[in-house]
Amino acid sequence: MNDPKALLICNGYKDKRYIETIILARKLGKQPVVVIEQADEVERIISASKELGAAPLIGIRAKLSTNNSGRWGKSIGEKSKFGLSIPEILTTIDQLTNSNLLKELKLLHFHVGSQINDIAILKDALQEAGQIYIELVRLGAPMGFLDVGGGLGVDYDGSRTATTASTNYSLQNYANDVVATIQECCESKNIECPTLISESGRAIASHFSILIFNILGKSLVPSENPLPQEKECLIIKNLRATLKLIKSIPQTSESDISKLQETWNDALKFKEDSLVAFRLGYINLLERGTAEQLTWACAKALVERLPNIDTSLIPKELKTLSYNLAGTYYANLSIFRSAPDTWAIDQLFPIMPIHRLNEKPTHLGDFADLTCDSDGKLSQFIDNGQVKPLLELHDLKDNEDYLIGMFLSGAYQEVMGNLHNLFGSTNAVHVRLTNEGGYKVEHVVREDTKADVLKATEHNPDQLLERLRIASESAIQKGTLRIKDAQKLMEHIEISLRNSTYLQE
Ligand SMILES: Cc1ncc(COP(=O)(O)O)c(C=O)c1O
Repeated sequence: MNDPKALLICNGYKDKRYIETIILARKLGKQPVVVIEQADEVERIISASKELGAAPLIGIRAKLSTNNSGRWGKSIGEKSKFGLSIPEILTTIDQLTNSNLLKELKLLHFHVGSQINDIAILKDALQEAGQIYIELVRLGAPMGFLDVGGGLGVDYDGSRTATTASTNYSLQNYANDVVATIQECCESKNIECPTLISESGRAIASHFSILIFNILGKSLVPSENPLPQEKECLIIKNLRATLKLIKSIPQTSESDISKLQETWNDALKFKEDSLVAFRLGYINLLERGTAEQLTWACAKALVERLPNIDTSLIPKELKTLSYNLAGTYYANLSIFRSAPDTWAIDQLFPIMPIHRLNEKPTHLGDFADLTCDSDGKLSQFIDNGQVKPLLELHDLKDNEDYLIGMFLSGAYQEVMGNLHNLFGSTNAVHVRLTNEGGYKVEHVVREDTKADVLKATEHNPDQLLERLRIASESAIQKGTLRIKDAQKLMEHIEISLRNSTYLQE
């Protein structure tokens, strides 16, 4: 804002006050460009300019016809929300000419949608926009700027492919294509090349944001072999025999796959038998538990025999066993607050532990968040261009933090996150690298407290405390609560209201 030549691109819906502010900003000595995105804005710009006796710099957002089939592809094309069609652009030129404002038309803008995966889409759009730019110059507009919008993609999964989590181009390829295509268009028609503007958001912000969360615990299916009891029912004996058989199968042999499949079918049948027997009252809870544990022990023994076998030969049912055996790691976060895109649009972010990196992860797992929502899970991970349901993780150690980083999370997650289940914002720290090679924490933004979140949902924490005090008073009178306990209860709630919405210990 201190550079007098810097442009202030004003896009989005515009009411009268917005347009007047833009014009006044020009009088202030700034370079505001009002980008016409809807046809009805033109008249408002013309009348505000007359009223204020000054005009803004003017830009037009074009609705290109280029096809973008990507996730944000609806930002372009005839049915897109913003931009002027070619007939509307021609009408706008007439309106601006008639009101003597064509001399202020300096910029052409387009936006093909966020996260362009395939560079071919951008190339088509650039060619189309280049030709429109040339035509605008021919129609008498001074022009000078071409704004290629956002859309520069991020290679989230590192695969360098035209898939949703990646891009088939690098930053340099993108820059080369933008510059070369526009240069070629303009030079072939002897038109001076414009100054290029880009509005990349995601590509700039993504790398600067990391979400770090701690793991509170882990759940595993019980797959240890339970100690034999004196008298065991037939179902349990059968399961023990099946387990013994699986363990006798050598680890590498491919010819044993059908044997593995057969034993697993047996184990499932015996498990089913145990459920029926329990429902009919023939076995007790302990026996049902033993049968379940033995089934998982069979699954574990089976999976241990699979790794050396070509995965294409493994039947699907056996492949999913490792998924069923994997642990769920409980994450101290809300997906809906801090990573909503993973839930809403299956966005893939690189996720990995941020320490113990010199220690081989020996477990597979996914993450469940703190919300009561069964959708609150992170169970899609990058896998060299593919998606895998489990991540390699370490076993948890007592009294030791296990911290996980979600990388490339950018600016969109934070702003789109919501108060689902009343989980508030997380602590944020702004870290800057120093010239000496170290880093410094520049700024700490405190997380929401429970009181903050209650207020945001129209509750009054002071009133809640007062009601609790009155209820305690009455319990003390009745003799059901000791004064000491009442104090403790009030203290817990008071401290809790001032504290994080996430678990602390
Ligand atoms: C007009 C416009 N410019 C720029 C952007 C930023 O896009 P991106 O973050 O994909 O670079 C957007 C967002 O969709 C947009 O609508």
